[in-house]
Amino acid sequence: MQLPFKHLLETNQFNPEVLRFLFEESRNMEGIFEKGGNQIMKGKILATLFWEPSTRTRFSFETAMLKLGGQVISNFSMGQSSSITKGETLEDTARTISCFVDIIAMRHHQQGAVAEFTKGSSAPVINAGDGAGDHPTQGLLDIYTIWKWRKFENFEKAFGNLTIGMIGDLKNSRVVHAQLQLLKFFKPKFILVSPNALRMPEVYLNMLKDYDCEYEETEDLESVISDFDVLSDTRIQQERFENREEFEKYRTFYQIGNKIMKKAKKDMIVIAPLPRFGELLPEFDSDPRAKYFEQVKNGVALRMGLIKGMC
Ligand code: ASP
Ligand code: CP
Repeated sequence: MQLPFKHLLETNQFNPEVLRFLFEESRNMEGIFEKGGNQIMKGKILATLFWEPSTRTRFSFETAMLKLGGQVISNFSMGQSSSITKGETLEDTARTISCFVDIIAMRHHQQGAVAEFTKGSSAPVINAGDGAGDHPTQGLLDIYTIWKWRKFENFEKAFGNLTIGMIGDLKNSRVVHAQLQLLKFFKPKFILVSPNALRMPEVYLNMLKDYDCEYEETEDLESVISDFDVLSDTRIQQERFENREEFEKYRTFYQIGNKIMKKAKKDMIVIAPLPRFGELLPEFDSDPRAKYFEQVKNGVALRMGLIKGMC
């Protein structure tokens, strides 16, 4: 069975049924990964085209394709070393690259650029992050990580009774926006913790209202941390700030470390897309509640499932 779309541009292409299909595939892929992979993508090629920095997402897509027996071509500096520098359009770039490959993962600093690219692409394209826009595969692997922690129970049971705390740059993080769009179907309670200037945008708050999800907003992490079943931490998004001073003001506004985590439940988890830059302290890494490096691994299985379902 295939996923019911050609390109994956936005998290809102998922509903619970499609999510279930992808997550079941990803769960199978964990076993295949552990056994060293398979050959279902033999003869197929993935292109990873990145205009914006990445460590996890690009290597994760590439590992996923290699584990499925396919091959990879890659350019991590499209802005400097592709024919875009000679004035070629995104659309012509897509027309060209889709002559070579079967599937493309693309990251760009401009919101909407991945959608623009698809106009010329005959190969399926996955949005691996488009500026302040969306990062669907990160949102998906984050929710998959919660599902796995909840022992693969049915979705309503797995997500419905949770209190989910989202912390940090809720204004600019494409990742928390993606997470909200997936979790809204199951109506957990949300506690949105951010500096006032970096609040969750109205459009997402309205979405929560439309889906009848309970939520509260606060600046004060200490007063709510003991309620969380899941703490979703996010970096202050330096690259979305025009003013360095403004960014520095918030960089360590919250710091998740051993001291504050003493106030949190013993059986909760902390997820984060990474990278971190002062907001999540390495001293917490050895705590069993820290799931962010397990998340990285889950991301490969999730992307294996996605490639299989789209290619
Ligand atoms: N790596 C994630 C992203 O690209 C999160 C982050 O950079 O803070 O959106
Ligand atoms: N989580 C994430 O997208 O990481 P990278 O920016 O390193 O790809």
